[in-house]
Amino acid sequence: MVLLACAGTGAVLTAVVFDRLVTLGDFRGVVLVAVAIVALYLYAILIFRLFLRAFPLRAGEIAEGSQQEFVYHVYVLFFLMLFYSIMRSGFMPAPLMRLFYLAIGARLGANTYTQGIIHDPRFVEIGDNSVVGQYALLILHVIEGRRLAHYPIRIGHNVTIGAGATVLAGVVVGDGAIVSTGAVVTKETLIGDGEIWGGIPARLLGRTSGLLPSRESPPLT
Ligand SMILES: CC(C)(COP(=O)(O)OP(=O)(O)OC[C@H]1O[C@@H](n2cnc3c(N)ncnc32)[C@H](O)[C@@H]1OP(=O)(O)O)[C@@H](O)C(=O)NCCC(=O)NCCS
Repeated sequence: MVLLACAGTGAVLTAVVFDRLVTLGDFRGVVLVAVAIVALYLYAILIFRLFLRAFPLRAGEIAEGSQQEFVYHVYVLFFLMLFYSIMRSGFMPAPLMRLFYLAIGARLGANTYTQGIIHDPRFVEIGDNSVVGQYALLILHVIEGRRLAHYPIRIGHNVTIGAGATVLAGVVVGDGAIVSTGAVVTKETLIGDGEIWGGIPARLLGRTSGLLPSRESPPLT
């Protein structure tokens, strides 16, 4: 809460300084609120990254009462108070979502975009030219009863994670693979290069090299 209060104070001061420097006319109120919101997120992201640099949150199991548990509680508060609302809103266009995820620690390759939700982006690594589809969910934490842990998800180049798919902690997806719409890829599944996986739980459906049964498209009438 102290860290969030610092971000909030910084946002208000930034709006006050902006108000003194720029003549805003009739739109003063709207512009100042917008400046304060943008500043709040910029300060929050800066503080979040500095905090995690000082107290890194590591992959693996988190023991009750450990320092890692304390770090996790501070870390998750930023998500609950600020970051989840951006991720879940669907309001931000894909290029801005990319910048947002990069800012909070995701490693996304060139030309990779997501309109899904990446929980715990600092533990995800996605290669170039990949897409995480609309409403897809990458869940990198393991919150199961009293168990708390994080395991990375690694996704290669030219991968499609289908709309509405859920990918759980520890999954590795090879280059050129496709996860179908609505699939649930269970923990620590290894999806090979060029494989197509779908269903609940996800199973190998075929390969992008043409092993899926091909269908002749019927002519349009
Ligand atoms: C998986 C997928 C690539 C298969 O497409 P395709 O190669 O044209 O294959 P078909 O539609 O002919 O289906 C082939 C088999 O996969 C099964 N299948 C297709 N989609 C499936 C799904 N979402 N879940 C489970 N099984 C699926 C079919 O039932 C079929 O099974 P069968 O051989 O036993 O009949 C496609 O359905 C898909 O989910 N694409 C993801 C698109 C997407 O969400 N992109 C991101 C947008 S934001």
